[in-house]
Amino acid sequence: SSNKRKLIAGNWKMNGSLAFNEALVTGIHEGLARAIPQCDVAVCPPAPYLQQVRSLLEQGGAVELGAQDLSMHDSGAYTGEVSAAMLRDFAVRYVIVGHSERRSYHGETDTHVAIKVQKALAAGLTPIVCVGETLAQREAGLTEVAVKQQLAAVIHLNGHCISEIVVAYEPVWAIGTGRTASPEQAQEVHAVLRAQLRAASERADRIRILYGGSMNAANAAALLAQPDIDGGLIGGASLKVPDFLSIIAAAG
Ligand code: G3P
Repeated sequence: SSNKRKLIAGNWKMNGSLAFNEALVTGIHEGLARAIPQCDVAVCPPAPYLQQVRSLLEQGGAVELGAQDLSMHDSGAYTGEVSAAMLRDFAVRYVIVGHSERRSYHGETDTHVAIKVQKALAAGLTPIVCVGETLAQREAGLTEVAVKQQLAAVIHLNGHCISEIVVAYEPVWAIGTGRTASPEQAQEVHAVLRAQLRAASERADRIRILYGGSMNAANAAALLAQPDIDGGLIGGASLKVPDFLSIIAAAG
């Protein structure tokens, strides 16, 4: 592997409440006070809770704040959208872009994702760019083609700035299904993405490529031991204090 710090990011998706979030963040802080993490840690709550979670995070350890999406527009008549500058206003450090749930339920295309990455970078946010094949694509032998096409759009629009992004490989068939990619399956795709990033940037080796898709306390260590797996984007398990803490420990 390399000597860069791993990143463990919790994607809460559309879960949580004021009371739930407070208990979750407090539990994470208590756990991290007992065992100082050797990796970077972030949580990505739904947008209405960014201010609450920001203020909870300020009271404790070194957990950073992320958002789950941003607008491809700067400001104006875009009802319901949240801009990069607004996220910056709330001390957001990371923003997930192009999650498969955004791509499939909200019609986000590779072009939208590339523009969102550009907006995030321009605002000083670190985009966590999600790519991943569907089950049908994997079974048709199209995994490599699918993920490379998704990442190519981002590289094309953002050029050498891509050394500032985080990539998350999330096979769609592994998200929320309890079916995880094996460490070898994940590493194979991470190596493809790494090669693609190297061809685009001299600083590609510093880019963190996270794995996402049913990562949990039991399988995290084996996935994180792979040479090109630099962390995890955690859904369900990030909502449970002991599970999230175990994954963080596995990244140390
Ligand atoms: O972004 C994280 C993700 O999609 C994985 O979700 O619940 O399978 O860990 P989950």
